[in-house]
Amino acid sequence: RGFSSTSASLAQSATRRITVVGGGQMGSGIAQVAATKNHNVTLVDVSQESLDRGKAYMSKSLKRVAKKKFADDATAQTKFVDDVLARITLTTNATEAAGNADLVVEAIVENIKVKQDLFASLAKAAPESAILASNTSSLPIAKIAELLSAERKERFIGLHFFNPVPQMKLVEVVRTNETKQEVVDSAVAFVKAIGKEPAVCKDTPGFIVNRLLLPYMMESIRLLERGVASARDIDTAMKLGAGYPMGPFELCDYVGLDTIKFIVDGWYKEGQGLQGNKIFESNKTLNELVKNGHLGVKTGKGFYEY
Ligand code: CAA
Ligand code: NAD
Repeated sequence: RGFSSTSASLAQSATRRITVVGGGQMGSGIAQVAATKNHNVTLVDVSQESLDRGKAYMSKSLKRVAKKKFADDATAQTKFVDDVLARITLTTNATEAAGNADLVVEAIVENIKVKQDLFASLAKAAPESAILASNTSSLPIAKIAELLSAERKERFIGLHFFNPVPQMKLVEVVRTNETKQEVVDSAVAFVKAIGKEPAVCKDTPGFIVNRLLLPYMMESIRLLERGVASARDIDTAMKLGAGYPMGPFELCDYVGLDTIKFIVDGWYKEGQGLQGNKIFESNKTLNELVKNGHLGVKTGKGFYEY
């Protein structure tokens, strides 16, 4: 047994034991997608309340998927949702959940110390053959694995999903200097087996997508500050002129303004070569929105009201 042995069987959708730690918007999406593709999933969070919230996210999203899949068949819709949810076990015990996992995907709060500590305890419990992965948006993968043994580091990788997970096709597979090739291969096979498209990249700030997206978002806010156009007109321009599904302000609100501020502040301070890069410099508009608790869609107000 072991996640490493048969990347071919993974590609053929073999059922595997996947533990997802963190049942927020990303973790619940990852759990949902893996369970939809027949994996046995354990979803971990810190309290029953957060697990209930994660389950509610998954039910809501699965109902949307089911409506599309079985348009005129309410019974089939309900069966689909129930079957997927039945493959997901909810627990607050992370180490127990990691005990028999083939793959552990971490999607907890974006804080280096908390992630390092979590992996230190997961590493004591997970099988030696398990792959340990982080869904971080902005933290170095190698730094998250810093407290682990050399063997664990070889089996440590970034699996960066995009929001909303059930809809977004891409997963960045982020290799560190330590990650073994067979682990990259297994991760790529897993990504394909859950119906996503992998893009393999090195462990550098923002990987591919966020390294390009964050400068675009920050530059959009500066355009607004300079009075070049309203947020609405900038959004319209980028949707209709560049073909983006959301304009930059809609996207900032969707991702969360606290998340965006956290990412750029971190890179500006200690971004492995991005330190002091003006494009990531703190921005008055963003800082004030975050200070006032206007974090975007999740709080009902950001650049727009919801
Ligand atoms: N679960 C299941 N299905 C969903 C869903 C969800 N959470 N969200 C949307 N859908 C489905 C809907 O059922 C709908 O299906 P039909 O077309 O058959 O009705 C379909 O997706 C389209 O949804 P909507 O009509 O509601 O809206 P839309 O067409 O505008 O699509 C979107 C929504 C996919 C979110 C699209 O607007 C989009 O791609 N936006 C950009 C998102 C993006 O860039 N994400 C990346 C953010 S950066 C990041 O994640 C990285 C990081 O580290 C911060
Ligand atoms: P979120 O706040 O919605 O969810 C985080 C969850 O983790 C919460 O339910 C919280 O209770 C739980 N948690 C915190 N500490 C924990 C611990 N020690 N053990 C178990 N559970 C714990 O956040 P999110 O938006 O889902 O982001 C999660 C991760 O995914 C972050 O690293 C983030 O950078 C990354 N990410 C976010 C996005 C996005 O657009 N929001 C996109 C890609 C990646």
